[in-house]
Amino acid sequence: MLKNPKNRKRKILVTGGAGFIGVNLANRLLDNKNNQVIVYDNLSRKGVENNLEFLLSRKDGNLKFVRGDVLDYKKLRETAKGCDEIYHLAAQVAVTKSVEDPVGDFKINAEGTLYTLEAARKASPGAVFIFASTNKVYGELLHLRLKKGRMRYSLQEKKNGISETENLDFHSPYGVSKGVADQYVRDYHRIYGLKTVVFRQSCIYGEHQYGNEDQGWVAHFIIKSLLGSRLNIYGDGKQIRDLLEVSDLVRAYGLAAGKIEKSAGEIYNIGGGPDNTFSLLEFLSFLGKSLKMEIGYSFSEWRPGDQKVFISDNSKLCRELGWKPLISKKEGVEKLTGWIWNNINLIRKVHGK
Ligand SMILES: NC(=O)c1ccc[n+]([C@@H]2O[C@H](COP(=O)([O-])OP(=O)(O)OC[C@H]3O[C@@H](n4cnc5c(N)ncnc54)[C@H](O)[C@@H]3O)[C@@H](O)[C@H]2O)c1
Repeated sequence: MLKNPKNRKRKILVTGGAGFIGVNLANRLLDNKNNQVIVYDNLSRKGVENNLEFLLSRKDGNLKFVRGDVLDYKKLRETAKGCDEIYHLAAQVAVTKSVEDPVGDFKINAEGTLYTLEAARKASPGAVFIFASTNKVYGELLHLRLKKGRMRYSLQEKKNGISETENLDFHSPYGVSKGVADQYVRDYHRIYGLKTVVFRQSCIYGEHQYGNEDQGWVAHFIIKSLLGSRLNIYGDGKQIRDLLEVSDLVRAYGLAAGKIEKSAGEIYNIGGGPDNTFSLLEFLSFLGKSLKMEIGYSFSEWRPGDQKVFISDNSKLCRELGWKPLISKKEGVEKLTGWIWNNINLIRKVHGK
C-alpha cells in the first residue's frame, strides 16, 4: 500500500547531535511528534554520553541514535537517505586542540563537512541543510578601532556589531577549517542547488554544556567557580563577547528551516548582539555577586586569533527571518548556573573532580 505522503514524518539528521547544541536542538525537534530525529555522533567529546542518555530517557520512538563518524562517508550517506532536514553540527571545536593537531582538525571540520554535503547531495538533495559556522571566520579584526577601559574594550565604530559583509580572514587552524567548511556549504547552494544555510555563531551557552578551558567558557567559568577552583583567563580579560542562550539559537534554526525559500543560500551572523555583551572580567564580577563568592583567577597568553571584541550584528537575521534574542544574558546565565548546580555530581565525574 502506498503511504500517504501527508502522514509521512519529517526525517531529520543531526550530526554532532549528542553535543551541547545538538542535544538542545534534538530535544526541541522531538517535541514535535511529526519529526523523526536521527542523532549521528561518534561521542568523542567528553561528557556528551550524558547528553545522549538524557535524550534516550525521553523513551521516544521518534529518536534514533547512530554512533558514527562524519569521516565515515558510507555510513553517513546511508544515514542521510531520504532526510528532509540536516543539521551539521559535528566538529572539532577547540582552537587550542586545532593548534596541537591541525591535520586532525582539518579532517573533521573541513573534510567531514564536505562528506556531509556529499551525503546530502547524493542521498537527500532536497533537504534543508543547516550548518553551525563561527564568528572566528572573521579573524582577529585588528582593523577595528577600540577603546580600552578598566573592565572592557569597547568598539569605537560599528555600534550594531559585525555584520556578514565583514571580510573573511581565517585565523588559527580551527578558524581555517571551519571557514573552509562555511564556504563549501555556501557554494553547494550555488553549484548544486542544495538548500543550505550558514549560521556564523558567536558565543553560545546553556544547559547540557560541559564547557572546559578550551571551549564553552561560560559553562567552564561557572563550573570551576562552583567547584572552588582557580580560573585561567587567556589575554587580559577585557575582551568582549556577545552571549546567546542556546534556545534562541535553536529557534533561529527553526525559522531558517521553516522559511527555506528565503534562507537557502544565505549566511547569517547570530549572537546575543549589543545588548548581551560581557567582558570576561565583567562576567566574573557578575558571577561572583550572583554566587556570593570570591572567584580567583590568573592570566595567561592570548590564544591565536582571539578577538578583543566580537559583537554580532543580527540585523539581517532580524530583517529576513524576524528573529531576535529573547533571553537576556543575566537570565540565561542564571538558568545555566541552576542547571550546573543540579547536575554537579555528573559534571564532577566528567571533569574528574
Ligand atoms: N558552542 C559555541 O559557542 C559555538 C560557537 C560557534 C560555533 N559552534 C559550532 O557549533 C557546533 C556544535 O558545537 P557545540 O558547542 O555543541 O560542541 P560540542 O563539542 O558539544 O558538540 C560537537 C559534537 O560533535 C561530535 N563529534 C566530534 N567529532 C565528530 C566526528 N568526527 N564525527 C561525529 N561526531 C563528532 C562530538 O562528540 C560532540 O558531541 C560545532 O560545529 C561548533 O564549531 C559552536
